[in-house]
Amino acid sequence: MEKTIDENKQGEALILDTKEGNSKKLFIESYGCQMNFSDSEIVASILSDQGFNTTQQLEEADLVLVNTCSIRDKAEQTVRKRLEKYNAVKRINPNMKVGVLGCMAERLKSKFLEEEKIVDLVVGPDAYKDLPNLLAEVDEGRDAINVILSKEETYGDISPVRLNSNGVTAFVSITRGCDNMCTFCVVPFTRGRERSRDPQSIIEEINDLWSKGYREVTLLGQNVDSYLWYGGGLKKDFEKASDFQRATAVNFSNLLELCAKAQAKMRFRFSTSNPQDMTLDVIETMAKFENICNYIHLPVQSGSDRILKAMNRLHTRQEYFELIDNIKRLIPDCAISQDMISGFPTETEKDHQDTLSLMEYVKYDFGFMFAYSERPGTLAARKLEDDIPEDVKKRRLNEIIQLQQKHSLMRTQKHVGKIEEILIEKESKRSDQHWSGRNSQNTVVVFPKEHYKVGEFVNVKINDCTSATLIGQAVNYSQNN
Ligand code: SAH
Ligand code: F3S
Repeated sequence: MEKTIDENKQGEALILDTKEGNSKKLFIESYGCQMNFSDSEIVASILSDQGFNTTQQLEEADLVLVNTCSIRDKAEQTVRKRLEKYNAVKRINPNMKVGVLGCMAERLKSKFLEEEKIVDLVVGPDAYKDLPNLLAEVDEGRDAINVILSKEETYGDISPVRLNSNGVTAFVSITRGCDNMCTFCVVPFTRGRERSRDPQSIIEEINDLWSKGYREVTLLGQNVDSYLWYGGGLKKDFEKASDFQRATAVNFSNLLELCAKAQAKMRFRFSTSNPQDMTLDVIETMAKFENICNYIHLPVQSGSDRILKAMNRLHTRQEYFELIDNIKRLIPDCAISQDMISGFPTETEKDHQDTLSLMEYVKYDFGFMFAYSERPGTLAARKLEDDIPEDVKKRRLNEIIQLQQKHSLMRTQKHVGKIEEILIEKESKRSDQHWSGRNSQNTVVVFPKEHYKVGEFVNVKINDCTSATLIGQAVNYSQNN
C-alpha cells in the first residue's frame, strides 16, 4: 500500500448504466482523492438527465470531462498530459467538447481557458448543478465557466450514478470543503468552507444502496470528524445557531450511530480523520457497533512538534500519542494508517528523526507518503521558502517508506492464523480462481473462490501474508449475510 493515492493512479474511464433514449456520449475520468471519484458520480447523474450516457471510448465521446486534483504539482502535471491526449483526439473529432472539473478548475479558473486552448468548459466543485446551463453556452460556441464556491451545496438531493462499481462497496459524501487551513494544503482554497450534509439524505442514500445489494459504505469528507448538522449552513456559523438547533444537532459520532443502526448488516468506514477533531465519542461509537469497521485513517504529516505547528496542525505529538493510546485501549485490533509529508520547509534531520520515532511508536498498518510540494496561494508558499533540496526530501521520504514497509509486514503478520470476516468485492487481480475482499481493518485478503459469491460475508482463515495482502482459505459463511 506504500504508494501515493492519486498521481500514480491512472484516472479510470468510468461506466454508467445507460439510460434509454440518451444519445450523447460522455467520457469522464477522475484523478485525486475519493471525493473526486464520488463527485464524478454526481456529475454523471446530472448529465444523465441531459441526454448523456457514459462511454469508455474516448474517441467516440461528444463530451470529455476530467475531474482534477491540485494537491501536489505532479497531480496537475498528470492532468496536463491527459489534456494533450484529448487534444490529439479532438483533431480527429473537432465536435468533441472538453471540460475541466474539480480542484484545478477552481484553482486556475479562467486561466485554464487561456492556457489550454482545447478546454471549452471550466467547472468548480460546487457548481456541477450549473452544468446544463454551461453546456448550453458551449453549444452556442462560447467558453463557459462557473467556479463559484457555495455555502450550502452538498448535492444531498442528487442520487449519484455509481460508476465503475463492484456493486458491493460505495462512497457516500457527508461533508464538503475544509476549514482547517493546514499551511501546506490547497484544499480549503479549491473546495471552500466546510459544510455538512443533511443526515436524513445520507441515511436515505445508504438505505437505497443496501436495497441495490451494496454491503459497505465509506463516509467521505475532508475532515469527517468535524461533521455537524444543525439544519444547514457552514460549520463556522454554528455559534449563531438557535437553542433548538443546538439541542437537535447531529455530530459525527451521532451520525455514525444513525448509520450503524439504519443498516445493521452494512459495514461502515469513514475517511479522513484529522487528529485534532477526533473525539473519544467517535472511538466509543466505533467500539460499540460491530458493523463500524476497525480502521482509522489518521494523517499526522510529521512527528515534530515544531513542524506540526508550522503546518498549523492543531495538536502536539504528545496529544497524538494520547489519541493513539485511546484507540488501542478501546479497540485493541484497530488498524491505523497515516499520511506523511517529508521535507516541509525548515525540516531538520532532527525533525525527520521525530517522524521516524513517531512511526515506531504507532506502528501504522499502512500509509500514504509524499514529498512536500509547494502549492501557490497556500500560507506555506507565501511565508516559507521551499528550502529543503529535492534529493533530501526524496531520501527522507524513502526512509519513511522503508520503515512503513517494515511495520506493514509486522502488522499483516499479526493476522496470520486468525479467522476473519471478509466481504468479497471482486476477482483477485492475480488469479481468476481467487476472490479479493477486505477484513474489518481494511487489509486486502485473497482466497480460493469455491462456491462463494461477490457481496457475501465469509469467514476466512488467514494462512500467509505479504506486507500488503493476506492470503487465506474460506471456512464458512459469516452470520452477517
Ligand atoms: N483531509 C484530506 C487531506 C487531503 S490531502 C483527506 O480527506 O484526505 C491528502 C494528503 O496529501 C494530506 O494528508 C497530505 O499528507 C498530502 N498533502 C497535502 N498537501 C500536500 C503538499 N502540498 N505537498 C505534499 N503532500 C501534500
Ligand atoms: Fe487539507 Fe488540512 Fe483540510 S490537509 S483538506 S486543510 S485538514
